[in-house]
Amino acid sequence: MSITIIAAQGTEMLFRFENESTTVWSFPERGTWATHKPTYRGNFAPQIARNVIEMYSEKGETILDPMVGGGTTIIEAKLLVRNAIGIDINPKAVEITKEALKFNHHPVSNQTIKTGDARNLSFIKNDSIDLVLTHPPYMNIIKYSEKLEGDISHIGSLPMFCDEIEKIAKELYRVLRPDRYCAILIGDTRRSRHFVPLAYNVMKRFLKAGFVLREDIVKVQHNCSSTGRWVQQSKNNKFYLIMHEHLFVFRKPKESEDMSRVRYSRDM
Ligand SMILES: C[S@@+](CC[C@H](N)C(=O)[O-])C[C@H]1O[C@@H](n2cnc3c(N)ncnc32)[C@H](O)[C@@H]1O
Repeated sequence: MSITIIAAQGTEMLFRFENESTTVWSFPERGTWATHKPTYRGNFAPQIARNVIEMYSEKGETILDPMVGGGTTIIEAKLLVRNAIGIDINPKAVEITKEALKFNHHPVSNQTIKTGDARNLSFIKNDSIDLVLTHPPYMNIIKYSEKLEGDISHIGSLPMFCDEIEKIAKELYRVLRPDRYCAILIGDTRRSRHFVPLAYNVMKRFLKAGFVLREDIVKVQHNCSSTGRWVQQSKNNKFYLIMHEHLFVFRKPKESEDMSRVRYSRDM
């Protein structure tokens, strides 16, 4: 994606982007425009949010990120004049996101940020959200709190983690409008030198919740250590360093839809 600043007036910034057109995305340099910072551990690049928001929503619509972290999705929503709801189990993340939203942008849109649990979004009505974009923890690879009740980044068991993801998927399915999109970024891991297909298992739970798979975008990771100890360990132990994540884009089918057309993209 190439980025050109076409105007800067006070804190209002306008950018011209060339958005992605294939299923492989690679951003060697993460965006640092507006209030984006790399400091929230494990946050995703603003380019991901920008591509997804521009592809799957319109100005004035409402975007939900129920695991908002440092607020990347919501900053982009504001810049792109979308209303947004950001939720995180961790009050510190909520404060960081609120702080990151302290910039002016016109036209104005509304952003609501609050502490909450992605497994229970009862304050959001059925079929009311136009786009979901989110980025769960990758099991317990990074722990996002000391031990907050409900923080799924403390779950190290794959089936137990997927059970909680399934609860989140069901809630996201409920709140999303039919025929609209839910995008999630998720990676894999390795245990005892063997590949653990976390992303594949998470994808299956979203299909089980009723979604159909629209895209599987491979996102190249650039923040991994490509030199030193890990390279040597991987060579010694005959494994490759994982340097990609998956951005799954799911669609919630329409009620009257002929599902036979998409039978191979849904839960079988
Ligand atoms: C990978 S981070 C999100 C990073 C975000 N995309 C960004 O760019 O800053 C995952 C977030 O999920 C949150 N989380 C964990 N369990 C949660 C739950 N049950 N409900 C809501 N948020 C949760 C963590 O506190 C963490 O902030």
